[in-house]
Amino acid sequence: MKVLILPSKEAAILRAADIVAAQVRARSDCTLGLATGGTMLPLYAELAKRHQAGEFSMTGVTSFNLDEYVGLAADHPGSYHRYMAEALFDLTDMPIMRAHLPRGDAIDPKAEAMDYEARIAKAGGIDLQLLGIGQNGHIGFNEPTSSLGSRTRIKTLTDSTLEANRRYFDTDEEVPKYAITMGIATILEARACLLLALGESKAEAAAAMIEGPVSAMCPASALQMHAQTTVILDEAAASRLKLTDYYHHVHPGGRESDYS
Ligand code: PGA
Repeated sequence: MKVLILPSKEAAILRAADIVAAQVRARSDCTLGLATGGTMLPLYAELAKRHQAGEFSMTGVTSFNLDEYVGLAADHPGSYHRYMAEALFDLTDMPIMRAHLPRGDAIDPKAEAMDYEARIAKAGGIDLQLLGIGQNGHIGFNEPTSSLGSRTRIKTLTDSTLEANRRYFDTDEEVPKYAITMGIATILEARACLLLALGESKAEAAAAMIEGPVSAMCPASALQMHAQTTVILDEAAASRLKLTDYYHHVHPGGRESDYS
């Protein structure tokens, strides 16, 4: 795992944007795995800004989002379809026909989950998967105790996730209780992963992911098994790590080392 610790939230976002932009520039027909959540919003804003400045085009890109809430139609204000349109797709030249998310309002959500997995495979897999991390260590909506061998399926959301999502909905009753999410094995098949975690509230989960045992209790720890994972943290999210001096030594200021 490549652990890059940046001095501030802003610097961490710029660093993550550099990696995504470099991927799109290196292979204009790449397949990106996209994530949602508060952490991704400033990253998408930065990418949209760079796109508008002419740094790269997304016309050749295919994308697959990690997850969508069961029961929400694409035009629901709380859906991830809407989130992605507003945060990135409408602000760039991303071709909407190749921007995939699971359909939350599918008549048969189980079949939709299996079909989504097949669509990723048919597209040739994911080149770069963006990830956030939940305070409980989830990636996508793979909540603690998710099988490390899991595939795209329906997950029941934990109380802590429902609580974190409450701010996006008007009433408790409206907060979705289930999601279709890529599985952990699905995520591990991406050719590279980039996880961004910011702020003190993520410090414990980041430490468990990077330095804890590989365990279904912290689904993000499965990334220890992935050979091409970069984790970008600000100082606050890195505050519970034990080997901080080593990470700074290998990647001073979050920069590349001579060898990686
Ligand atoms: P956040 O969510 O970016 O809103 O903190 C991340 C996640 O739950 O994966």
